[in-house]
Amino acid sequence: MAALSRKRRVLCALDSIAELGARGITLRDAGHETPLFVVRFADEVRAYRNSCPHTGISLNWLPDQFFDAECRLLQCSMHGALFQPLTGECVHGPCLGDRLERLPVEIRDGLVYLAQDAADDACPAER
Ligand code: FES
Repeated sequence: MAALSRKRRVLCALDSIAELGARGITLRDAGHETPLFVVRFADEVRAYRNSCPHTGISLNWLPDQFFDAECRLLQCSMHGALFQPLTGECVHGPCLGDRLERLPVEIRDGLVYLAQDAADDACPAER
């Protein structure tokens, strides 16, 4: 899996994600693409690599569709693994006990940033 650059990057506007919603984003950097998704849940924001711990494929099969039908847990579309939205821990399915890879985020001025290390210039992400 490609390493992310160490730059702080804008992922999306916070209000572009519904509460109990998620948004898939692809970061493009030096020829590498990194799929990830941002989740809003219980007044918190999280970002995870879009890679199921079971096989490494993307969790969603429709754009921005990461939650289960009840909007309580994140769900992998392939074999139905369920993950806690705030921790990424798998609580049901073939990767029980594993976790999604969490990425650090910051919220500033209504924008969600991928917060790697010390901030460099912000570089917009692409959908
Ligand atoms: S690939 Fe996600 S549960 Fe199997």
